[in-house]
Amino acid sequence: MRSSLRTSHFQYHIIAVEINYPSQPGPIGVFDSGYGGLTILREIRKALPQYDYLYLGDNARAPYGSRSFDIVYDFTREAVDELFRRGCHLVILACNTASAKALRTIQQHFLPISDPDRRVLGVIRPTVEILGKVSKKRHIGLLATPGTVRSHSYRMEIQKIYPGMEITEQECPMWVPLVETGEFNGDGADYFVKKYIDQLLLADPEIDTLILGCTHYPLLLPKIRQYTPGHIRILPQGELVAESLKDYLRRHPSMAERCTSGGTVEYLTTESPERFDPLASLFMNTPIHSSRITL
Ligand code: DGL
Repeated sequence: MRSSLRTSHFQYHIIAVEINYPSQPGPIGVFDSGYGGLTILREIRKALPQYDYLYLGDNARAPYGSRSFDIVYDFTREAVDELFRRGCHLVILACNTASAKALRTIQQHFLPISDPDRRVLGVIRPTVEILGKVSKKRHIGLLATPGTVRSHSYRMEIQKIYPGMEITEQECPMWVPLVETGEFNGDGADYFVKKYIDQLLLADPEIDTLILGCTHYPLLLPKIRQYTPGHIRILPQGELVAESLKDYLRRHPSMAERCTSGGTVEYLTTESPERFDPLASLFMNTPIHSSRITL
């Protein structure tokens, strides 16, 4: 099999790199730019505890939120390739920015030349699908990284499934840094949490449903709730993604057979474990011992 190097947004060059991914069943890969994907992994494990999981956080290169399409694609493709090499047949991009900027290109261009039988799934579709059931006013607010907002992936997905539904998008450039630095509970976080929520609700006071379109944001949830009027519903992205994965594996038994079920989790980070483990342990509510890798 061959791998591709992308030199510009639409140009691909095939290079003669042999990829020998292990063919035996392996863990389910869960990828994020940093810690945020742990909020998705936590819910996936609750819904599907029987499987083995391999988590990869690209903490050394996080945040992805303000990076260009090309860079987010390159970083995400490297991570997916690494998880495939380590035996995963199914990888979840537990990152909205990677799902918005890289998923489509990975599905259309990387998988066909790397291994068409492996699968990469994102978090945007499962989040959007539920909107028809939960929003009465059909006015949705999106809080996300600048990258996700500027990709308009949520807007496009909503227009496809629910034409006529209103979406107002708000960039929250300070929220991921607050989480990655462990400042999400601090007093300083209040200013930026309130600021972006106020801006969003000023732009559309009719919003009745809020998408936290970044997997880091559940860590800010107590403060987000504090500054959001009580009648607005905040969607739990982790649970939605977990339910959608459960349904996917039910509908694709041949993929389920290629996922090992020992109930284990292994953590990889591109940062040093000394930095990753304390915060990751806080997120997962259990001691985490990661290994460092380079991509
Ligand atoms: N956790 C990621 C997301 O869901 C991105 C954070 C970042 O690296 O900016 O968008």
